[in-house]
Amino acid sequence: MVLDDMITEVISSESAATVHRSVSEPPPVGQDATVPSAVATLPDRIRQAIAAAHVAVEATPLAQAMSRGTVSVSEYVALLQELHHWHRSLESCLSAASDCEFVRLVYRPETMNRTAILVSDLSAFRVQPSERPGPVVEQMIAELTTWQARKPWALLGALYVMEGSRMGSMLLVRSLAQAFSLSNAAAVGLDYHRQDMANRPQAWKQFRQELAELSLSPVQQDDVIQAAVVTMQGLVQLYASLLVSAANNPTVTANSD
Ligand code: HEM
Repeated sequence: MVLDDMITEVISSESAATVHRSVSEPPPVGQDATVPSAVATLPDRIRQAIAAAHVAVEATPLAQAMSRGTVSVSEYVALLQELHHWHRSLESCLSAASDCEFVRLVYRPETMNRTAILVSDLSAFRVQPSERPGPVVEQMIAELTTWQARKPWALLGALYVMEGSRMGSMLLVRSLAQAFSLSNAAAVGLDYHRQDMANRPQAWKQFRQELAELSLSPVQQDDVIQAAVVTMQGLVQLYASLLVSAANNPTVTANSD
């Protein structure tokens, strides 16, 4: 299937329409317009809880520039560098939490890990990963480490946010290709957004289904929701911080060979 067809499929599918509506127009807390609260599943509750932060992240100048295809390579690379630290820590915490049955049942490193792809995207822009994360991601990583030690199932809230963000990626990849005058193809620096795109709507549906079927206690479910909210809020801060600091990054060039 060609990319345009896949994007059309995502946007026109019933589940995606529901996702988009609930992401961009959050109902009042406790009143999900699509699901009666008495039967709301864990993923439905997460979706509702992070809706306001998703609106906020989409409104940041960086996200706007990415969506409009006006982001510069330096600005985008600064984001990839921070995401590299974030994904690396998330993956390391999830692996270390493999004795938690809830993590084991849902986390699939082979399709969910993205650190290696971030390194290769950076390399397509002729940039090495940075040595250390900035202060926002440093704080986000500290939260991950605490969850791993005290309540490893909470890591699934952070995983939900990153897996869900791939839905937006399906739209962003086209405007990013335009911004950098790149072809919308593999190995040009856009694989973070393109990875496994053909299976994305189905994989996202399955991930949400698996999460809904976990036998987490009410307290554990609240931990997962809280972790998703904290993660999403951290990402809002990250996006909000980056257009300012990007000016200090080394000059990089898009690899359009
Ligand atoms: C940069 C601009 C962004 C755009 C344009 C965007 C767009 C979208 C769209 C359109 C969907 C729903 C899928 C659909 O209806 O086709 C979605 C879902 C989602 N996005 Fe974004 N997104 C953006 C940024 C982000 C960021 C930075 C994150 C966090 C890393 C994020 C996390 C999510 C999550 C978790 C979902 C799934 C929500 C759910 O079903 O519970 N998005 N996004």
